[in-house]
Amino acid sequence: MTAGSASSGGAVSLRRVRVTFDGTDAVADASVDIAPGEFVCLLGPSGCGKSTLLNVVAGFVAVTDGEALVDGQPVRGPDVSRGMVFQSSDALFPWLRVSENIAFGPRMRRVPKGRRDEIVARYVDLVGLAHAADRFPPQLSGGMKQRVQIARVLANEPSVVLMDEPFGALDAQTREVMQREVERIWQETHPTILFVTHDIDEAVLLADRVLTMTAGPSGRIKSEYRIELPRPRDETSEEAIELHRALRNDIAVEVSKTLRTQERMAG
Ligand SMILES: Nc1ncnc2c1ncn2[C@@H]1O[C@H](COP(=O)(O)OP(=O)(O)OP(=O)(O)O)[C@@H](O)[C@H]1O
Ligand SMILES: [Mg+2]
Repeated sequence: MTAGSASSGGAVSLRRVRVTFDGTDAVADASVDIAPGEFVCLLGPSGCGKSTLLNVVAGFVAVTDGEALVDGQPVRGPDVSRGMVFQSSDALFPWLRVSENIAFGPRMRRVPKGRRDEIVARYVDLVGLAHAADRFPPQLSGGMKQRVQIARVLANEPSVVLMDEPFGALDAQTREVMQREVERIWQETHPTILFVTHDIDEAVLLADRVLTMTAGPSGRIKSEYRIELPRPRDETSEEAIELHRALRNDIAVEVSKTLRTQERMAG
């Protein structure tokens, strides 16, 4: 692939995935098929196993039972073709410039310098940071740091991008800008995206499909909502508001279950 080409999405399949930590199921029985290039949001109460599922696809966490497949191949560990964007910008290397953070993956893969420079130029530009390429992460705002994380992942031309509440720590205005940016970048590069959020509006704005999860422990995928509204979406449209309401009700039930479980455990 050349630096100018778009990465193409991978097909992700979870088949009856169970993940147990210390004898307790974090995820009980999760199955889903995600199409190449699909944008899927995962919503659910705290502790239901969203990050765990993302970590399974990333290859950071092994399944206890079942299977996680990408393009039909079982996930056996981390790989640059599956990149993760974390909520915290601590994921960046503070001692490397923006351009060097982005070049890090290609450098590890021994991509020749000339080609590496092309990749950095493409992705620094794609995330709108060409003017800040020589800065260090501590010299960036929260939104800019998240752009660097996204560019650093995309520089590996991944087929699957995993995003774990990537904008959870940003202020509302910056978050809105970043949501539009992620949508634009996805439309340009078209990886498969699995995106965890607590923000229902964010899911309605971005997802081709929203999956909700049941309360943990033993979280499962509860229901799915296909969103076929044209993009860019208007969250004040009647359909978006209706969808928001349905998702809120769906999740509220699970959040109250989580609270009851916590109360029981507290005695
Ligand atoms: N490495 C681990 N070791 C032990 N338990 C873990 C580990 N990772 C997650 N868990 C447990 O698994 C359950 C699911 O955690 P997970 O982080 O996937 O939830 P989440 O849905 O991402 O929650 P949040 O919305 O708060 O981020 C929780 O009970 C958590 O304590
Ligand atoms: Mg989480």
